[in-house]
Amino acid sequence: MKEQVQSYLETHKERFLKELTDLLKIPSVSADPAYAKSVHATADAVATALTAAGADHVEICQTAGYPVVYADKIIDPSKPTVLVYGHYDVQPADPMELWDSPPFEPVIKKTDLHPEGAIFARGACDDKGQMYMHVKAFEIMMKTDSLPCNVKFMIEGEEEIGSENLAAFVRANTDRLAADIVLVSDTGIISNDTPAITVGLRGLSYCEVEVTGPNRDLHSGLYGGAVANPINVLCEMIASLRDENKHITIPGFYDDVEELSAENRAAMAEAPFSEEAYKKALDLKSTEGENGYSTLERTSIRPTCDINGIWGGYIGEGAKTVLPSKAYAKISMRLVPHQSSDKITALFQKHFEAIAPPSVTVKVTPHHGGEAVAIPTNFPAYIAASKAMEDTFGKKPIPVRGGGSIPIVAMFEEALGLKTILMGFGLDSDAIHSPNEHYGVFNYFKGIETIPLFYHYYSQLFNNA
Ligand code: BES
Ligand code: MN
Ligand code: MN
Repeated sequence: MKEQVQSYLETHKERFLKELTDLLKIPSVSADPAYAKSVHATADAVATALTAAGADHVEICQTAGYPVVYADKIIDPSKPTVLVYGHYDVQPADPMELWDSPPFEPVIKKTDLHPEGAIFARGACDDKGQMYMHVKAFEIMMKTDSLPCNVKFMIEGEEEIGSENLAAFVRANTDRLAADIVLVSDTGIISNDTPAITVGLRGLSYCEVEVTGPNRDLHSGLYGGAVANPINVLCEMIASLRDENKHITIPGFYDDVEELSAENRAAMAEAPFSEEAYKKALDLKSTEGENGYSTLERTSIRPTCDINGIWGGYIGEGAKTVLPSKAYAKISMRLVPHQSSDKITALFQKHFEAIAPPSVTVKVTPHHGGEAVAIPTNFPAYIAASKAMEDTFGKKPIPVRGGGSIPIVAMFEEALGLKTILMGFGLDSDAIHSPNEHYGVFNYFKGIETIPLFYHYYSQLFNNA
């Protein structure tokens, strides 16, 4: 089976790359309504690709937002079923001027970490490139007659804006989505010679705040000094959200945070990581974060509170002496297992209102959120993923907790009773969400090669279980 997969892949590599390149040309930015047509066109393209690969029941399912592409291949109801999840939407490309080549005109270029070349385009790694590996792996299994179990695809178009309509879709389609395991490639490995499987994702709580001072913009000379400047106040409020140890000051924020055992933390510290290389890659003299935790811990097992955007007043050319009426910020908190997104949002809201001085009024508007997940390493699907990666990388993958969020994953467990395998192939340095996002050609083909082996081992272990 391995040889057949290999040889089909070898023969079709060029076409597989060309197809991904074509998909990357469609700017499926879900956050910006200006791209609506392209987001729909991408859903169509994914559906067409799934049909061509050999899927049945391919359907573009309408939701209150962008559609979900569903497809399946049921070879035998008595065999296990893998539910593949991915997303065809991408983050906005801006700031455009920082791209070395246009974000929706993919080009392949060599880099230090990708000597075999990487595809530069928005969505190359997150998640079109990784999602499309599953379509091509499925094609290979169909064409080489080696699909060992049933497969269902659910590819959504709103992951980057919080998957709110997907949650409703999942709840309304629990029968159609019935499966034994969810398989996702939307995370990463440590490096191209150090494979990893993500066994945790952080949750998210996201709020927008509006601080209002005077009822209109004022002359900062006439009124400045006597009337609260909402930008000054907002900065003070934000600064107070973390203390001198970079500990978040919202009362109750840490109540449900799981403290890892010393053994667990020691095991985490075994993962290869160089603080020096980390700093160098980001041109930093120093990292910073919660006292008492390492960089890896700060980005995985510890919660955060970050300002994602802040604005107000005059930001045009030159100087304008204004005391603005309003100031705004977008604030997100990354959460860890057992913290509840709704509860943290409520705690934040209450605290932020409480710390507002009487000179301003504060409005807090919650956005989307999501729960953290932790995935065990001692069940058949994990073992299958581990064996598959060990075969193709020649090394056993290291289980790692990821710092990012995929809100729907917690819902798979809650609504479908399913565990998820996060078998991603990206690198942290692939610049997802940033200018010059890219995905290694090596990683793309490695993923396509590894996925059929997951199906193989999973079916084998499932039958023996
Ligand atoms: N694929 C990422 C999540 C990710 C990346 C997890 C790398 C682990 C490692 C996903 O597309 C993403 O960006 N999620 C958002 C959440 C969302 C609600 C916008 C995130 O993490 O910010
Ligand atoms: Mn993603
Ligand atoms: Mn993303």
